[in-house]
Amino acid sequence: RIVVVNFGGQYAHLIARRLRERGVYTEIVTPEDAVEIAKAPDVKAIILSGGPSSVYQEGAPDVPDELFAIGKPILGICYGHQLIAKKLGGLVRRGKGEYGKTLVRVLVNDHIFDTWESEEIVWMSHSDYVAQPPEGFTILAVSENGYVAAMKKDYIYGVQFHPEVVHTPKGGVLLENFARKIAGVKHVWKPEDQIGKLIEEIRKEVKDGDIIIGVSGGVDSTVVAVLVHMAVGERAKAVFIDHGLFREGEPEQVVKLLNSLGIKVYYVDARERFLKRLEGVSDCEEKRRIIGETFAEVFTETLSKFPEVKYLAQGTLYPDVIESGAVKGADKIKSHHNVGGLPRWFNLKLIEPLREFYKDEVRKLARALGLPDEVVYRHPFPGPGLAVRIIGPFTREKLEIVRKATKIIEEELEKGGILRKVWQAFAVVGDDKWVGVKGDRRTVGYIVTIRVVESEDAMTADWSRLPYEVIERISTRITSEIPQVTMVTYAVTTKPPSTIEPC
Ligand code: XMP
Repeated sequence: RIVVVNFGGQYAHLIARRLRERGVYTEIVTPEDAVEIAKAPDVKAIILSGGPSSVYQEGAPDVPDELFAIGKPILGICYGHQLIAKKLGGLVRRGKGEYGKTLVRVLVNDHIFDTWESEEIVWMSHSDYVAQPPEGFTILAVSENGYVAAMKKDYIYGVQFHPEVVHTPKGGVLLENFARKIAGVKHVWKPEDQIGKLIEEIRKEVKDGDIIIGVSGGVDSTVVAVLVHMAVGERAKAVFIDHGLFREGEPEQVVKLLNSLGIKVYYVDARERFLKRLEGVSDCEEKRRIIGETFAEVFTETLSKFPEVKYLAQGTLYPDVIESGAVKGADKIKSHHNVGGLPRWFNLKLIEPLREFYKDEVRKLARALGLPDEVVYRHPFPGPGLAVRIIGPFTREKLEIVRKATKIIEEELEKGGILRKVWQAFAVVGDDKWVGVKGDRRTVGYIVTIRVVESEDAMTADWSRLPYEVIERISTRITSEIPQVTMVTYAVTTKPPSTIEPC
């Protein structure tokens, strides 16, 4: 395996994902843990990630000098590249910097650049730069603006650009060259090959008693339910809590699908309890709090019906595992009720079979387990459901509008072959009104906003450039099939500065 030292931001995850999709198993570690983990015999190389700091800033993240004495290949990227320069006696300065697509020229034939042309486009984002590489380092590539784009000495490499982002077309190749040719990683890792091991681990951990799984229809909880069921059979208790905030037909589909896989689902109809408490509530975080609290309440009651349960299976993914341990002082933008996990007082032992995986890898597991496409490619859906797509006071009328409009959007995108290509697609409704004419009569109606975004990880997102005809069909259907709606708009703001959900 390869380890990536995380210096903040999303870079470490992108690096890990790029390498994993090329079959190189990669894990993320904190700067403090780096030396100890890097010494493990199965760690073949260390990558120092980019990050938001400047190496000369006070308190800037650092790694112990010892890391360079272990004798394993090291690749520094952006901040990591500058850190190598500074620590080994080179010079880092603040300059004009380079942002976005930049041309670099490769000066030296090195295996890390195998299959690269002598000039390639890379993605840069830096203002500090390596003004002078440390003694003994060779400059391997320079950028069109004259900066050191890559350098090396023996097995220590630094690159100023970001090979992990899609805007560096040959970046994945470079990372794989480093892993395979410099670090000698031979093993080809695939998520779907891990299924046997995962089942074995669950079996070992869940020694006695039953295990409960809260299913939601999403790919994560479905995969967890299937794995746990494969591991311990009938001792796996799948529970579906219906909060009344699902998309049309979703609860029925979830129950039917799991039943067809031989997994009995205990369905809890808690719709009224949730909706009553939400009625009239405007504040987003208040909506989330109510839903989180009610969910915990209903779950506790449900649990009392299964006295043999000792374990709780959750679909926690790798980014959550890393984020909950590593990010200090990060701003809370929205509280995701299902990320923090259920309250500790449940006194159940947590089993998290997906804690090593990224979302796209879970989709591969799902496919290998034979789950149907609707599950494998299902869009992420927020735990608090359609409630976060209602702006202003929660009402049942707005809930029905969002539910119907979302169905229309999904149907039209599916017809156009677009649904699976986008990250999320849904409707939003607020309280602003638009005067309309319906059947010659003046009506004052709701405005529905269509939100369709493309994203790799939900940290950033771009609005999808849908064909006009598709937007038109959606608009026509929404205004004709939902009588209370007189206007449809399309949301065209990226994240950041916006977020994906309106609330
Ligand atoms: P935002 O709106 O913050 O959303 O850009 C990022 C991703 O998270 C989902 N989301 C939630 N998921 N509970 C969840 O489980 C929540 O409260 C929640 N709020 C947003 C959102 O759908 C997107 O995929």
